[in-house]
Amino acid sequence: MFPITRMRRLRASRFQPLVRETELDVKDLICPVFVDETIREPVEINSMPGYFRFPLDMVADEAVCISELGIPALILFGIPQEKDEAGTHAHGDDDIIQKAIRAIKSEADEPIIITDLCLCEYTSHGHCGVVGSTHEVLNDPTLEILGKTAVSHAKAGADIVAPSGMMDGMVGAIRRALDDNDFRDLPIMSYAAKYCSAFYGPFREAAGSGYSFGDRSSYQMDPGNSDEAIREVALDIEEGADIIMIKPALPYLDIIYRVKKKFGMPTAAYHVSGEYAMIKAAARNGWIDEPRVVYESLLSIKRAGADMVLTYFAKDMAKTNL
Ligand code: PBG
Repeated sequence: MFPITRMRRLRASRFQPLVRETELDVKDLICPVFVDETIREPVEINSMPGYFRFPLDMVADEAVCISELGIPALILFGIPQEKDEAGTHAHGDDDIIQKAIRAIKSEADEPIIITDLCLCEYTSHGHCGVVGSTHEVLNDPTLEILGKTAVSHAKAGADIVAPSGMMDGMVGAIRRALDDNDFRDLPIMSYAAKYCSAFYGPFREAAGSGYSFGDRSSYQMDPGNSDEAIREVALDIEEGADIIMIKPALPYLDIIYRVKKKFGMPTAAYHVSGEYAMIKAAARNGWIDEPRVVYESLLSIKRAGADMVLTYFAKDMAKTNL
């Protein structure tokens, strides 16, 4: 008690590093990369200033740049030339993601390639699964396509697959498909508790995955729910997820905290496109100090319990010599 206890003693700047409880390290970061089959030059994403989609022939250079900054992993999103009802171009051997993986692997072993495994970028209607006659998103028929897609990523050389479609049973179906094709050691990073969030708005422009009807509330989680996230994560672990993800990050720090405490699993959090856009917009107006706000945001995600953070600020943060 005061005056014996003085909290300010250890706030002297020379002591602070010694007693700091949470650190942000470049090794905690995963960098999203968009590869677009329809472009020849990098295209800046309107609602994500400073972030680009890359043509196929530039994706390997981007990967090398990420690796040279010390970032251990990237997550790859593909924008195909052609979309159809069933998302066929998600799983062909010569489709965009498969070509991008091979292009990167032919240049470098690093960084780790994680592939976002979903149909919404590949379907003409923009939903994360196949759609029935009354516009309902069909769960079980989607699983088979996800399994096939996972195997095609693995064959192309992906290091980790990350299913993000929130279909029931998707992790189990993907695990079986991978095992049946001798990819037993390929880990699954599951978007386990993914909320139906307005913070994904800019991503839909980035990945060209806006939907033509309805919304994603029949498969993504209701933002008010927390116990349900625990059940979602438990199921994915049972089905074979190796890493689990919470998404978005800052509005769901309580979920990250609960999930890490309860399961002690390798836990990732996705600091999503809308979280990026808000910081960029305020910084561009001169209203906030961007690097400090980014650092504090990512640090808080780690403090809540995340082991790794997927963030569009990965390269910026790496450049600040974390
Ligand atoms: C694909 C997917 C989405 C995001 C990651 N994977 C979009 C969505 O579910 O609508 C969002 C990422 C972001 O906003 O940064 N299902």
